[in-house]
Amino acid sequence: MRREGRQGALWPGLLQGSRHDGAGPRTLASGGGRCRGPVDPFMSEVPLEMTTPKKLFIKTYGCQMNVYDSERMAETLGQQGYVATDTANDADMILLNTCHIREKAAEKIYSELGRYRPLKDANPDLKIGVAGCVAQAEGAEIMARQPMVDLVVGPQSYHRLPELEAKARRGEKALDTDFPEEDKFEHLAARPKAKRGPTAFLTVQEGCDKFCAFCVVPYTRGAEVSRPAERVMGEARDLVERGVREITLLGQNVNAYHGHARGLSGLIRDLATADGLERIRFTTSHPNDMQDDLIAAHGDCEKLMPYLHLPVQSGSDKILKAMNRKHTAESYIKLIERIRGVRPDLLLSSDFIVGFPGETEADFQATLDLVETVGYGQAYSFKYSARPGTPAAERAEVDGAEADERLQRLQALLTRQQKAAQDAMVGREVTVLFEKPGRLPGQMVGKSEYLHAVHVTSDAVARGDLAKVRIVESVRNSLAGVVV
Ligand code: 5AD
Ligand code: SF4
Repeated sequence: MRREGRQGALWPGLLQGSRHDGAGPRTLASGGGRCRGPVDPFMSEVPLEMTTPKKLFIKTYGCQMNVYDSERMAETLGQQGYVATDTANDADMILLNTCHIREKAAEKIYSELGRYRPLKDANPDLKIGVAGCVAQAEGAEIMARQPMVDLVVGPQSYHRLPELEAKARRGEKALDTDFPEEDKFEHLAARPKAKRGPTAFLTVQEGCDKFCAFCVVPYTRGAEVSRPAERVMGEARDLVERGVREITLLGQNVNAYHGHARGLSGLIRDLATADGLERIRFTTSHPNDMQDDLIAAHGDCEKLMPYLHLPVQSGSDKILKAMNRKHTAESYIKLIERIRGVRPDLLLSSDFIVGFPGETEADFQATLDLVETVGYGQAYSFKYSARPGTPAAERAEVDGAEADERLQRLQALLTRQQKAAQDAMVGREVTVLFEKPGRLPGQMVGKSEYLHAVHVTSDAVARGDLAKVRIVESVRNSLAGVVV
């Protein structure tokens, strides 16, 4: 039996792209590049205990779920004798973990693949693979268009990578874009025990049943599936033993999580009992799944951080209806008021789409009004792009220049709000989880509970430390502080 889910066109969850934080691809070994969401991952821990290691280069595009997937794929291939490398030049395998959110996503992957042609010519043993949502969407088409691709694997089949890699090594084409019945998480390689950085992503839920009219997730990642709470708890405990102090629970629709009898809030409350785990975050959520106890947890669960990414997409009820969002601007604002009622200092984030089919200037104005009313600390905004196979793709589009102009106006407002939220931190005391050295000598960088990047110059703090910091300055995309 296969899992439900139409295949054929399309992408993964959250982002890449016209986010105004300039998110781009990340490579596995370097962990470089910026990621739209909560935390930068620590990404280079493929086990080293194999005889003649082969080198694996993974380039990751898109959302945090892809970052998590890349880590798990690297661990799985680690058991086949691979170690991570941060350059494609000396790799025995190149794997592109792709995102399909943006227009022309597939074209970009084809041109990236083209750049590997000289490497493949020089080393016929080099294997090239495509994973992620472009792999899911395009399937065998990728191999037809780029014969040098040896392996294509969809997001639900990563646990089959060892077989696929062996097949590719035998010189056969290896393709798997199934929605298999077995749970891939149960079949992925055991996670390594080595120490790692203080923050980690943990995927607890995949897929989406909401069918927003613009979105391909329900088609590429399939129906909503939750991992059982006890498995999540086990993985979280292992991460904590390895030095992790902050976990971000991931899912395309994470607050619809039902792997725990009391849903996501039940999972969060259980996780909060784990000694050594100091911070919990979750992303991405749908307004209609903010259950009462999840709201309450923002007020009474100390380890749950005061930051919430709650996409609204538009402030116009007409457009929200056309998007099949099943909430109104008013119900969203009321929801925010309730959450702020229990956690007044909550920093809010959202996604917006401008230029959705049928959006008039008045509809767009309603979005600006909603932004003014809510006040965001951070947000991502996109120009609508038709995704083949989605209902909205059939509808007449808004003039492109007009949509561009609206996007600029919205981004200017969001940037102002983001700066105001950051500036308001000056003089305040926050708690920072330190993640890595900064660019300057003696500098350490970490994140506050509000997810602001904070740097201090101090030899009193080390990676993994939590320390109270007084913010003294707000600079472009970060805060400067002194340890108190
Ligand atoms: N066009 C533009 N933005 C989109 N998103 C999803 N699909 C599209 C699309 N077709 C945005 C939504 C979503 C975020 C992850 O990506 O805002 O919340
Ligand atoms: Fe896409 Fe809507 Fe599901 Fe979010 S809730 S993944 S936007 S269908």
